[in-house]
Amino acid sequence: MLDALYRDHVATLVARAEKALAACGFDGMVISSGKPFTYYADDQDAPFRRVPHFAHWVPMGGPSHLLVVKRGEKPRLVRHAPEDYWYEQAPLGAPFWASAYDVVECGSASRVWATYPKSGNFAYVGDEPESARAAGTSAEGINPKALIARLDWDRSFKTPYEVACLEAATARAADGHRAARAAFRRGASELEIHHAYVAACACTDAELPYGSIVALDDKGAILHYEGKRTDRNGKVLLIDAGAMCRGYGSDITRTWCTSEAHPVFRSMVDALDGLQRRLCDAVKPGIPYLDLHLAAHVGIADILSSHGVLKRGGAEAVASGLTRPFYPHGLGHFLGIQVHDVSGRQAAPEGGIKPPPAEHPYLRTTRTIETGQVFTIEPGIYFIPMLLRDLKASAHANDVDWTLVDALTPMGGIRIEDNLLVTPSGHRNLTREHLPE
Ligand code: GLY
Ligand code: MN
Ligand code: MN
Repeated sequence: MLDALYRDHVATLVARAEKALAACGFDGMVISSGKPFTYYADDQDAPFRRVPHFAHWVPMGGPSHLLVVKRGEKPRLVRHAPEDYWYEQAPLGAPFWASAYDVVECGSASRVWATYPKSGNFAYVGDEPESARAAGTSAEGINPKALIARLDWDRSFKTPYEVACLEAATARAADGHRAARAAFRRGASELEIHHAYVAACACTDAELPYGSIVALDDKGAILHYEGKRTDRNGKVLLIDAGAMCRGYGSDITRTWCTSEAHPVFRSMVDALDGLQRRLCDAVKPGIPYLDLHLAAHVGIADILSSHGVLKRGGAEAVASGLTRPFYPHGLGHFLGIQVHDVSGRQAAPEGGIKPPPAEHPYLRTTRTIETGQVFTIEPGIYFIPMLLRDLKASAHANDVDWTLVDALTPMGGIRIEDNLLVTPSGHRNLTREHLPE
């Protein structure tokens, strides 16, 4: 089953590559898996992440491999298989994907690069431009903008193989989220909840698609909180954590409360969950993603006003900028090999940027929704002291119940995040299939 999906995936990638290469005047392209990053004045490397263009093709880890895609030929994978007893060197074996390539193995990175095509007009894609230049690629052939734009655009349309990877990454993360919730209910600390999460996902921290955000109480208001405190018995848990499968990551957020949390905050969590589900329900081809983001602002204005935080709601409150301090990020982003996947703001396959409106600078997705895209829907409401300070000093200060805001600020924030696949008739919520709660 996976073999067949993968065969079709590579056939799709070959067809897309032929078209993109022809449009840009190249005979082929060489994509490298990347070079390791060694810490300054040290002999240790940072956890390695492959060049995403390489990961799009080959579900094989590690640096210094090359993939040669030439129009009209079977792709060739030059695998770096060093003779090095300091680290584990697992043999290739016979993975389900290998028959898609002519595989060549080389014992050193320099031997890998020695296989670089000597003739033909090849583009190079990756993070080793010096090596590509030394191998004879012209400056215009190195990460050519026009080619990269087409490859990025194509990556926003997931093949069934990629969807299967994202589903498996979701199922894995759902196990983690259930374990994290149970740990929170037992009064566990951020660090203990994080450990419960990775244990249930059966992975190391370096194998997560991004550093998990495990925030109790006030820390939930830090959008990308990285700490892992050891104090126990939080009242609110905001956990934003995913898992990986064959290079694809899920990105899921849940917010849970104990009975000790402020009752207005608890009710707001339920209300935001309802809004998030309605926003997901609206996802179908043809709608500008921006419309959903703006609808989220109106929904959040109504939640804030019906709970007494704001004295007015609806579009009028949004137009006055009242929701932005409480919801200062975008509704979501494309998802795939990269957590914030490419081309969310791309204007066309050929390139160009479609920027978000000036009042919404952090919106990562301005594209029209189309079949095959996978993106997140993740509205939030936060009590961020830095932003509230500015609101309190603004002309709109009287539109806010500051006594209630002060009581809710120690609860931190709320975010609910699911991953959606757009289908011809609407969408599939990949997350709720595995984590309905
Ligand atoms: N986990 C980062 C995000 O939700 O965008
Ligand atoms: Mn996200
Ligand atoms: Mn997230």
